[in-house]
Amino acid sequence: MLREIVVYPDKRLKLISKEVTSFNGALHDLLDDMYDTMRSKNGVGLAAIQVGVDQRVLIINIPIEDEDGDSYGTEHDSNDQPKEKTMEIINPVIVAQDGTEKFQEGCLSLPGVYEDVERAKHVKVEYFDREGAKHTLEDDGFLAVVIQHEIDHLDGKVFIEKLSFLKRKRFEKEWAKQQK
Ligand code: CO
Repeated sequence: MLREIVVYPDKRLKLISKEVTSFNGALHDLLDDMYDTMRSKNGVGLAAIQVGVDQRVLIINIPIEDEDGDSYGTEHDSNDQPKEKTMEIINPVIVAQDGTEKFQEGCLSLPGVYEDVERAKHVKVEYFDREGAKHTLEDDGFLAVVIQHEIDHLDGKVFIEKLSFLKRKRFEKEWAKQQK
């Protein structure tokens, strides 16, 4: 089922999401709905708060053609993002990170906005799946970028907050104009 995407500057995007404590049917419904919603907008990642749920839940599905790294902005067909390839990441914690890399990011809560953002190049993340089993992942490519972007959402942050003061000012002006 599709859910409505929360769009910047909605205040809910500033909430610190809460840890998931029960890995139950409601969580599974949320994850399934998040996949449908992300797919409908050609996204590669989505955090629960982007559908208005303040829980530490995110999904990532990197299109097969983009696995070697590409921008968020390209269009994909659904064959490229099969449901079974979706990573369902609950209560993630970055346990190690190093290096830096710049990458052009976008966000379903800021449609049409793409900006270069600097993040850690390599991350190691511990998380739980929908059944509550613990996993660890490590990446230094596109997945590392996406997971840091999505974890930021769980902490109430959107990627434009990482821009320089001047770039941010320019963005806010353009965005205000666009919303009218
Ligand atoms: Co986002």
